[in-house]
Amino acid sequence: MSALNNKRILIGISGGIAAYKTAEFARALIKNGAEVRVCMTKAATEFITPLTLQALTGNPVHSELLDPAAEAAMGHIELARWADLIMIAPASADLIARLANGHANDLLSTICLATETPIHIAPAMNRLMWSNAATQNNCKTLSQRGYTLHGPAEGEQACGETGAGRMLEAQELADIVIAVFNDEVQSKPLFGKTVLITAGPTREAIDPVRYISNRSSGKMGYAIAEAAQSLGADVQLVSGPVALEAPNKVTRSLVESASQMHDKTMNLAESADIFIATAAVADYSPANIADQKIKKEVDAENVNKNPELTLALQTNKDILSDVSHAFPNLFSVGFAAETENLIKNAQAKLQRKKLDMIVANQVGENKGFDKDTNQIEIIWHDGQLSLPEQDKKLLAIELMKVITERFSSSTLQR
Ligand SMILES: Cc1cc2nc3c(=O)[nH]c(=O)nc-3n(C[C@H](O)[C@H](O)[C@H](O)COP(=O)(O)O)c2cc1C
Repeated sequence: MSALNNKRILIGISGGIAAYKTAEFARALIKNGAEVRVCMTKAATEFITPLTLQALTGNPVHSELLDPAAEAAMGHIELARWADLIMIAPASADLIARLANGHANDLLSTICLATETPIHIAPAMNRLMWSNAATQNNCKTLSQRGYTLHGPAEGEQACGETGAGRMLEAQELADIVIAVFNDEVQSKPLFGKTVLITAGPTREAIDPVRYISNRSSGKMGYAIAEAAQSLGADVQLVSGPVALEAPNKVTRSLVESASQMHDKTMNLAESADIFIATAAVADYSPANIADQKIKKEVDAENVNKNPELTLALQTNKDILSDVSHAFPNLFSVGFAAETENLIKNAQAKLQRKKLDMIVANQVGENKGFDKDTNQIEIIWHDGQLSLPEQDKKLLAIELMKVITERFSSSTLQR
C-alpha cells in the first residue's frame, strides 16, 4: 500500500519564486497515493499557472474567495474540512504576516483560519526578508499556535544572494508529509497488530437456488472492523453475504457457507493477534445438497404427491471454538446472541469455548439483528461492563476500546 493512500492534502501556494518547485511536490504526493487539491494566492498565479497544477492534480485549483461559482463548487469551509493536512509551499513573508495576524482576506488565509487540520508551512524568501525581526516574530507566533515550520534551507538564492531562505526541495517536503502520517499511525494503540473479524450471516445451500440463512445484516461486525482500523490495526474481515461496502482500508474476504467461513478464518487466524467472531454462523447445514432444483411432484390433478419434505441437517464446525483452541495465544472474542438467560448463557460460552471475552446481546423481538442500534454486555474472566443501547458504530468504538485495553493487559501477562 502506498504511504499516503486515502490521504487528502491541500497544498497552499503563495507568491514566491519557489512556486515552480511545488509542481514537483504535488507530483510526489500523488505518486505516493495522496489526493491533492491546490489553493493559490493571486500573487502565486503570477509565478506558476493554475493550469499546470490542475493538470497535475486532476482537480480544479482554488483561488477565489468571493466568487459565487467557486464557492458553490467547493466552498472555503468545505475545503478547510476536506484536508487531512495543509502544506503551504512556498509560504511568502507576506502570507506568514497575514496568518500571524489572523487575516482572512483571501481564500488561503481564510481556510487557515477556518480549519482544525494541521497546517505545515515551508517559508521561502530572500535571506534578509527571512532574518527580519518582523518575519521571525510572525513565525514564532505561528509555531506557538500549532503551525509546523519546515526550513528554510541555506544556500544560493534566486536573487543571487547566499543565506537562509531557500524553500526545501520537493522530495524533502513529500518525505515530511509521509513521516507525519507514519508517526500518526505508529502512535495508534493497535499499530502492527492484526485483527481478524467475521461478520454477517452464512448461507447453507439446499439446492442450486435455495439456502438456509438468518437475519444478520453484518452491521455490527463491519462497524467493529472500521473501529479496529481507526485504532491502527490491520483488519481482515471475513464476511458472509451482506449489503454493505467494505470499510476503508479493511481487507475483506467474501464467503457464503459456514464451511467456507471456517476454512478462511482458520487460515487467517495464524497471523492474527485478536479474533472477533461477530458472524451469525449457521449451526446446521443440509446433509445433502441437491444437484438440481428440488421440485414438487404433482399428479394429473395437480395434487402434490409428497406433501411433506424432510430436510436432513448436519452440524457445522464451530469456528469460534476451533480458532480459540487451535490458536491459544490469540485474544479471542465471541458474540453471544441470546433470546433468554443472556448473562448465564454468555458466561458458559466464555468458559466452554476458551475465550478471552464475550459480548452478549439480546436478539429477537425487534432487538439486535438488522437494526442500527444495539445494547451489549461485555464479559471477561474477571470483569464485566454494560454498554447502553446506542448506534452500532458508536458501540463498536466503545467495544474496541475495551478489547484493546484487555488485549494489552493480557499480552503484558503472557
Ligand atoms: C519576482 C518576485 C519574486 C518574489 N519572490 C518572493 C519570495 O520568494 N518570497 C516572498 O516572501 N516574497 C516574494 N516576492 C514578493 C511577494 O510576491 C509579495 O509579497 C506578494 O504580495 C505575496 O503575496 P501572497 O503572500 O498573497 O502570495 C516576490 C516578488 C517578485 C516580484
